[in-house]
Amino acid sequence: MIQGINHLTLAVRDVGESFAFYRDALGFRPVAKWPKGAYFLAGDLWVALVLDPEVRAGALPEYTHVAFTVAPEDFEAAAERIRAAGAAVWQENRSEGDSLYFLDPTGHKLEIHATDLAERIRSARENPWVGLEILQDAPASGRASGPARKGGHPKPARKNPRAPRRPPKRRKK
Ligand SMILES: [Fe+2]
Repeated sequence: MIQGINHLTLAVRDVGESFAFYRDALGFRPVAKWPKGAYFLAGDLWVALVLDPEVRAGALPEYTHVAFTVAPEDFEAAAERIRAAGAAVWQENRSEGDSLYFLDPTGHKLEIHATDLAERIRSARENPWVGLEILQDAPASGRASGPARKGGHPKPARKNPRAPRRPPKRRKK
């Protein structure tokens, strides 16, 4: 069963330029770097950049894009940092929730978005578009506008998340 995105790999034209953009303009945390690529963490998401001479020459005309989550309270500062880096804006926001749609140095269509699918569905119930059928509720992601975890209140942070929750039971020999 698919549990989510394991990693996102983007082909890039210039590793140095892209590395600086993802680190400085988007605030991704660099984890590894080599002459033909880099690994980052964006929140919990593993993002890879890989040099590819066959990469697109500029933005594609199609709508495919990748949207990264930012907290609503961080949206304006994040958007300002991306604009200040000189990123081109490829679309104005027309839907629920704050969004900035921008290009990376290679021309990949990216977005930062401040709400989640649960919020989109809630908004869509209030203002449905033509032909819309809502098939099920979406749980709040906990990463943007909703509660921190599914179904309720944030759990207190554990001191060491890798530690077992309970001491292992001793087995009788
Ligand atoms: Fe989007």
